[in-house]
Amino acid sequence: MTTSTLAPPRSLLTELEPAAEFLLNRHVGMAQEWFPHDFIPYSLGRDFDKEPWTPEQPRISGVAQIAFEVNLLTEDNLPSYHREIHRMFGGGDGAWINWVNRWTAEEGRHAIVLRDYLVVTRNIDPYALERSRMNQLQVAYNHDDGGNVLRGIAYVAFQELATRISHRNTGRYSADPVADRIMARIAADENLHMVFYRDILGAALKIQPSRAVQAIVAEVVAFEMPGNGIPGFLRKAAAIAKAGIYDIRIHRDEVLLPILNHWKIFELTGLDAAAEAARGQLAEHLDKLDAAAKRFEEKMAMSATPRIARAG
Ligand SMILES: [Fe+2]
Ligand SMILES: [Fe+2]
Repeated sequence: MTTSTLAPPRSLLTELEPAAEFLLNRHVGMAQEWFPHDFIPYSLGRDFDKEPWTPEQPRISGVAQIAFEVNLLTEDNLPSYHREIHRMFGGGDGAWINWVNRWTAEEGRHAIVLRDYLVVTRNIDPYALERSRMNQLQVAYNHDDGGNVLRGIAYVAFQELATRISHRNTGRYSADPVADRIMARIAADENLHMVFYRDILGAALKIQPSRAVQAIVAEVVAFEMPGNGIPGFLRKAAAIAKAGIYDIRIHRDEVLLPILNHWKIFELTGLDAAAEAARGQLAEHLDKLDAAAKRFEEKMAMSATPRIARAG
């Protein structure tokens, strides 16, 4: 990993620490305690030694099953995300490290509740799932932000919102009320995480607007969901897009634009030349995404693949 000349000094995090403390306290005040076991239909459970898993057992199938698998394996990679978040924010003994630990603890519940649900309901082959988890964690995940903490924060803001929508739509697509309730619960967590990162970057935009804008644009242009290591990820992501669970239109209109507009990126004044150039690049990129989304929508209009309606 190279150190970018755009990278803000470590002192920026120190300068942002009072904002981080305010946002952490606000988060803790808003977050609701919840328990994975309250969401699991244990009455459906049977012993695997008496009745091994067989492919006819899952009640969900096709894209719904694929989306659950991808979403759980993505949550499973928490050790990598913790390492990355700790690398970015882990210094000191104040609000930043407290956020890192709180966030990690909350994220841990997501894989717990998803795995418990999938194993008890037998909705996914538990052997394949565990082998995929082993593979996923050994591939691990690195976010190449060039050592630029602002870019790292931009990434997690977009990523949390993307995950929120992907989880929510996976629950809706499954047509299983139990799964839908679980996914809505996780999505509520992801939303609060997004709000923390969005607002800490909002605070950074006030301190170093030009550097922050450049970091945001660099991240938007390079953004990728963390799916490497999931067997057949590209094929699975394509199926998830065709089903309307997460596609380019959602990414542009429901993830990128709401956050960029919240930051008022296109209204900021007094930026330096490099940040102005980056803003031009961002506008071009959003246009390209729009064109790609239109092409995809035209293709899907002629396809027989069932899609879920956009969330209201
Ligand atoms: Fe999560
Ligand atoms: Fe999250």
